[in-house]
Amino acid sequence: MIKRPIIIDTDPGVDDTIRIMLANSHPELDIRAITPVTGNVQYALTSRNALFLREYLGIDCKVADGSNTPLFIENKDAGDIHGTGGMGGYAVPVPKRDFDGYAWDIIKDEAEKANGELEIITLGPLTNIAVTLLRYPEIKPLIKRIVCMAGSATIGNMNPYAEFNVWIDPEAADIVFTSGIPVVMCGLDGNDYAGITIPDLLHYIEKAKGTSVEDLFTHIFTHWVHRREAAHAEDKIQVINDAITMAYFITSDMGKTEKYNVRVETKGELTAGWTIVDRYNRNKQEPNIEVLTWSDRELFKKMLDDMLDYYRK
Ligand code: RIB
Ligand code: CA
Repeated sequence: MIKRPIIIDTDPGVDDTIRIMLANSHPELDIRAITPVTGNVQYALTSRNALFLREYLGIDCKVADGSNTPLFIENKDAGDIHGTGGMGGYAVPVPKRDFDGYAWDIIKDEAEKANGELEIITLGPLTNIAVTLLRYPEIKPLIKRIVCMAGSATIGNMNPYAEFNVWIDPEAADIVFTSGIPVVMCGLDGNDYAGITIPDLLHYIEKAKGTSVEDLFTHIFTHWVHRREAAHAEDKIQVINDAITMAYFITSDMGKTEKYNVRVETKGELTAGWTIVDRYNRNKQEPNIEVLTWSDRELFKKMLDDMLDYYRK
């Protein structure tokens, strides 16, 4: 089996957690490091959750000490969306192992070791990646591609146009998007097609029984069932953004992409964090980003079933 060396940059986070479970259930992915960043909840919690997930899932990888604040703007988070502690209220035990170094240093080392084959998947604000590229610009040719859960070609979730991961640190996102490294943007709109229903959520809660991840998985999916049940009528679909992005990262059969020029609005009073997808190339700029335009709900649901079968062994 040809192993794919990868780094998971993340702000766990309930959907981040399911996505790390999914990655870990694919032996072809060689998870070299998990690099936490501030985002869904404050850094003290996202970093603790990353250390915990390494132990809970038994992943043989490094966990880095990442960025605890955006590059320039004041820190924010997603409040109660991810529940107490960022894991849907799950009681996270104190991790036994500590960090293995700073995120930028570990990403550089792994990029050099992988000799051009390293892929990075980001699930949170792009601060760690931006800091790495600013500190070690020479490693850009060594990064095969960066697949980001980031942005949107249409609607936002933090203001009319901005998606959370970009909204938290727009400057970092623009540094990554203009780095010249092949980037795939799995945004809210592309991911939306693979959203699942409350009955689907209940199916996976049932299916998780007897697996080694039953307690944490069930906690998170039950958290989502409660949130969807409380939501207004047109918001009953759960889009597990990070896991859908991971599914696309695992197999591009999961979605379709188009290449466009994408820049990030960093100054707009009303639109900061907007990923400006130039569909008709009005700015006459080189297309620089593969933008996910569709994702496969049925394949995503099968991948979740297969993941739970993996943890049943
Ligand atoms: O906008 C959705 C993204 O923001 C997801 O990655 C979620 O985990 C939060 O980080
Ligand atoms: Ca995330």
